[in-house]
Amino acid sequence: MGEQDDRTTLKKLIDMDEFKNSSFITDKTESLVFDQRTLESIYKIFKDFDIRSLDYPISSGKESLVYKAIGQKKSYVMKIFKTSTLRFHNIRPYIEGDPRFAHFRKTGGNIVQIWVRKEYANLLECEDHGINAPKPLGINRNVLLMSYIGTERSPAPKLKDVEEEKREAYLADAMMQYGKLVREAGIIHADLSEYNILCHRNKSYLIDMGQAVSKKHPMAREFMARDLQIMKAYSEKNGIKFRDEWITKLEEN
Ligand SMILES: Nc1ncnc2c1ncn2[C@@H]1O[C@H](COP(=O)(O)OP(=O)(O)O)[C@@H](O)[C@H]1O
Ligand SMILES: [Mg+2]
Repeated sequence: MGEQDDRTTLKKLIDMDEFKNSSFITDKTESLVFDQRTLESIYKIFKDFDIRSLDYPISSGKESLVYKAIGQKKSYVMKIFKTSTLRFHNIRPYIEGDPRFAHFRKTGGNIVQIWVRKEYANLLECEDHGINAPKPLGINRNVLLMSYIGTERSPAPKLKDVEEEKREAYLADAMMQYGKLVREAGIIHADLSEYNILCHRNKSYLIDMGQAVSKKHPMAREFMARDLQIMKAYSEKNGIKFRDEWITKLEEN
């Protein structure tokens, strides 16, 4: 892969009308995070899902960028992991202790790609067990495509931003989803907070599952205790009673 390929891929992308109007290429600072391979991955997902354009960035974090992508018939969410800033030592404990993924490390392979596959697999488990979460649709290297949660005007708010009078109901549903995740899917979210729960049409959706681990992970208990501790703190801060029923039967087997 040389400079020539760089230009060919970029040119292909830039030549697509859809990209011309988007902040994606025109915003110099943002485009810098996409290396040539990432552009190729984005391009492939564009083709496979007949995506027309990348809309505004919903979120731009240290480790990933989240875009609303406009398809022929519906909207999607494209999560693009920054290959340069996803820190190996930060994510390694969540991969190595998880029996579903431990073998990937031994066979080698790119850590970011394992991470993305892990998020994809966790979202699939949610789908299989009827847990509210984005539906995983496609994956290509460090790019993940999932269903969009929100209205035409804006993505669904996080629990922390929801109107006060609706917080208790959304928290209760989030805790019910979490209970199903643990008991039925056998997965611990391990980064649960009011930032990783989206509230949409009276349902709470668990998001951001790259770090979520199997219950068999040696630190599963600690991760779960931390999840519950954070939700309890949120609950208390908002004057909501943290109900026992939210955490019963989570510790079994
Ligand atoms: N499927 C989705 N639909 C709507 N908004 C989403 C979706 N997934 C993520 N987001 C938005 O993007 C933000 C960042 O996504 P997240 O998966 O939490 O990544 P990060 O690792 O950067 O926290 C979320 O807080 C949420 O506001
Ligand atoms: Mg998040």
